[in-house]
Amino acid sequence: MGDVKVFTGTIVHATDLEPMQILENMAVGVLNNKIVFVEPASELATLKTKYKIQDTREITMTQSQFLMPGLVDTHIHAPQFPNTGIHLVLPLLEWLDNYTFPTEAKFADGKFAQYVYGAAVDRLLRCGTTTATYFGSLHLEGTKILGDTVHARGQRALVGKVNMIANCPSYYQEASLEDSLRETEEFILYIKNLKSDLVLPIVTPRSAPTCPKEHMERLAQLALKHDCHIQSHICESRSENDWVQELFPWSTSYADVYGTVGLLTDKTVMAHGVWLKDEEVALLKESGTGVAHCPNSNLSLRSGLCDVRRLLSAGLKVGLGTDCSGGYSPSILNSLRQAVLMSKTISTMTEGYESITLQEAFRLATLGGAKVICMEDRIGNFEVGKEFDALLVDVATMGTPLDIFPEDTTEEKIEKFLYNGDDRNILQVYVAGRNTYPLPQQDIPIAPT
Ligand code: GUN
Ligand code: FE
Repeated sequence: MGDVKVFTGTIVHATDLEPMQILENMAVGVLNNKIVFVEPASELATLKTKYKIQDTREITMTQSQFLMPGLVDTHIHAPQFPNTGIHLVLPLLEWLDNYTFPTEAKFADGKFAQYVYGAAVDRLLRCGTTTATYFGSLHLEGTKILGDTVHARGQRALVGKVNMIANCPSYYQEASLEDSLRETEEFILYIKNLKSDLVLPIVTPRSAPTCPKEHMERLAQLALKHDCHIQSHICESRSENDWVQELFPWSTSYADVYGTVGLLTDKTVMAHGVWLKDEEVALLKESGTGVAHCPNSNLSLRSGLCDVRRLLSAGLKVGLGTDCSGGYSPSILNSLRQAVLMSKTISTMTEGYESITLQEAFRLATLGGAKVICMEDRIGNFEVGKEFDALLVDVATMGTPLDIFPEDTTEEKIEKFLYNGDDRNILQVYVAGRNTYPLPQQDIPIAPT
């Protein structure tokens, strides 16, 4: 075995059995992009012999540091990045018309796209998002630039050119159904031709109101033809639900519209699902569709309270999304906190309701997200054989000491980070074994042990 990077110290990750498993005094071996062993550090000398390791680069974590899986954002709009943290005054449909579509229309300009997408991907990596499921804009060239940007920065991503030809402003819609399909296929082939192990195309009908039935059917066929993921929005607000019922009077529900046209597959990610009826939850479950839970957006746009416990109990795959700029924060740590608070809010109104724990939200942010995008065999936790997408976290950096006291347990330090930490506590961000953090290696402050 060649040059193995070995991290020794505390690791924390989620498994199917435990939402948050903490393992101390461990050695995690990484060769190229993959995890080759996870064993007690006391075994390191034996491991070196066992695996015939010649060279190692050892990274010894301190008592204030730990390794956790990279965060997965299952729903974010890259061209809404300029609006992060502004314009959260109107409900969904009015917000789209007044603020979102005008901003996305600017991505007809390639230079603007290049600038914004560079800044957006850098910010997300800095926040620890090693994998992102992106909505681009409807522009072919601009969304190619988004693909190029994530590819160059080394982030893992699904990237989608948005499709919308109906019920949207004349200045921001695709020219025709045929144009939409042709450009989408060109986009899929462009991303596939990057020959990246990390970046994949995703078919992205914006939402049922913006895509007539035939449009959605043919996009579903295109996804099937190229074995692509699919993403869209579902049951986000009550007004949107009512509108879908008006536009598709033959349907029994919003999910029925997507199911009928073939958009519900085991590679489909549907954002929100706040107002899903029981039969729709069953339909998503049956088809293998995953849900991107976006609590910040649901609260900011006053869309509603999404009952994640209900979705999890029904056996759905659930991950977290920031839904920037419906959500005001690009950080999945923020989504994680708001997922807990949204669930606790529901528990204040419902007798006997079991809200999700911080630990469960941690699982949604990592392994849950990986499952939603069908990548749990590659990422999501530190199982041997998976790719090494990881964050090196320090709870006691100079910038943000997180009120750590000597008597704090390891679990308490991790909880303090999850509730109060930020990008200053994230020292390194690895995607497939590669450090993508913007700081050069020598500038990274790793305290001596
Ligand atoms: N529904 C259709 N488009 C959008 C969007 O850009 N953001 C959100 N949150 N919901 C949508
Ligand atoms: Fe969205």
